[in-house]
Amino acid sequence: MHHKTIIEPFRIKSVEPIKFTTRADRSAALVDAGYNVFRLHADDVLIDLLTDSGTGAMSSQQWGALMQGDESYAGSRSFYRFRDVVQDLTGFQHIIPTHQGRAAERILFHTQVRSGHVVPNNNHFDTTRANIEVEGAEARDLVIAEGRVPSALHPFKGNIDLDALEALLVEDKRQGGRLVPLVMVTITNNSGGGQPVSLENLRGVRRLCDTYSKPFFLDACRFAENAYFIKLREKGQGDRTPADIAREVFRLADGCTMSAKKDGLANIGGFLAMNDSQWADTARNLLILTEGFPTYGGLAGYDLEAIARGLEEVVEEPYLKYRIRSTAYLADKLTSGGVPIIQPAGGHAIYIDARGMLPHIPPVQYPGIALANALYVEGGVRGVEIGTVMFGLRADGTEVPPAMDLVRLAIPRRVYTQSHIDYVAEVVLAVAAASVSLRGYRIVSAPAVLRHFTARFEPLPEEGK
Ligand code: F0G
Repeated sequence: MHHKTIIEPFRIKSVEPIKFTTRADRSAALVDAGYNVFRLHADDVLIDLLTDSGTGAMSSQQWGALMQGDESYAGSRSFYRFRDVVQDLTGFQHIIPTHQGRAAERILFHTQVRSGHVVPNNNHFDTTRANIEVEGAEARDLVIAEGRVPSALHPFKGNIDLDALEALLVEDKRQGGRLVPLVMVTITNNSGGGQPVSLENLRGVRRLCDTYSKPFFLDACRFAENAYFIKLREKGQGDRTPADIAREVFRLADGCTMSAKKDGLANIGGFLAMNDSQWADTARNLLILTEGFPTYGGLAGYDLEAIARGLEEVVEEPYLKYRIRSTAYLADKLTSGGVPIIQPAGGHAIYIDARGMLPHIPPVQYPGIALANALYVEGGVRGVEIGTVMFGLRADGTEVPPAMDLVRLAIPRRVYTQSHIDYVAEVVLAVAAASVSLRGYRIVSAPAVLRHFTARFEPLPEEGK
């Protein structure tokens, strides 16, 4: 078969209705929500692209596996099934289940990171950064230069800058090895546009970690999408299976944190995995204190079953081919309509350059909020601002806009069809055509930390009114 059309590699057995609303309904809902799409009732959203986390559709095999869940407190059969699948995939010795990714981060960082430490990464995700900073340490982003420029083209924009990493490790050595407790790399690089990291770059990190005797941990939330990008884009990798590539990637590292809500194809769950027995013992002790016994870690037995099956399905080639193509499909439609987005398309999301699209709205008037709100009012599409509201507030209360003001449209796994995505593109293009009429916002009320979740906004009056 040599047909060009890449189709959804599944048929649909169970459906969930979505609610159609009028523009007037949506405008009223947005006012009630304080002009913050996080505060909307999800029933008032038609196409929800807020996140790809925990929002995927499980397969009939996963739903079937739920009935196999063993809910024994200790030593449950479901744990051993989960452990065997994770061990086969990653090769790590110690597999510690957690209720989601950030719990794995908290356990790793609280047991291994101290005040004054520096943890390097390509780009830390916000929970990763927060869990390092809460220990009094610094989370340092060392993505390559191209990874910071929306329009720059590079097949692996998520790569870490190996020279910058080595410079930090040289400084660590000068300080007797007391500066850097571990090196992290996030695959794919969510905060940098869902961009992949190459095998060559990961091998480079391994070499540096060997030279300077540092443990290397992956933030592996989207490891399968990253493996497929390696297959598509990296020289000499085209004939390998995604599973084979993923296995090699994990075996370059000493451990990982994982949110099974992404490439675990599950609605909840995660794990922390590593080879070092001492680190694992300390981690399990904290796990028992805050998450649960080491064979369930805050999850039900049936969750462990769903994750085990999800990890097997996520590396299947027809799935990954559809997944990466369907995200690129939206990117192609937006790009050919002249909408500025981070190029090339990420694995799980499209990132619209709101600052580039709305040059008349200065960053401190939140172009990302203006765009996200307009997408909702125009067509009931919910995305998320990743810009000045999310990252611009300093501890001293001043506001410093980050490098970009983006709106992320994250695509839930196996949930929306091609016509849903056609509709999303139509809505974005309609908003883009009327972009000069969009106005900025001001914050009416906001908490001191993580303000984007709960802040209330107000549109600024039109010029001269
Ligand atoms: N690391 C990365 C790269 C992530 O994208 C996320 C979550 C986490 C860690 C934390 O995992 O949510 O299971 O605790 N990202 C979601 C998102 C929330 O919308 O991008 P978690």
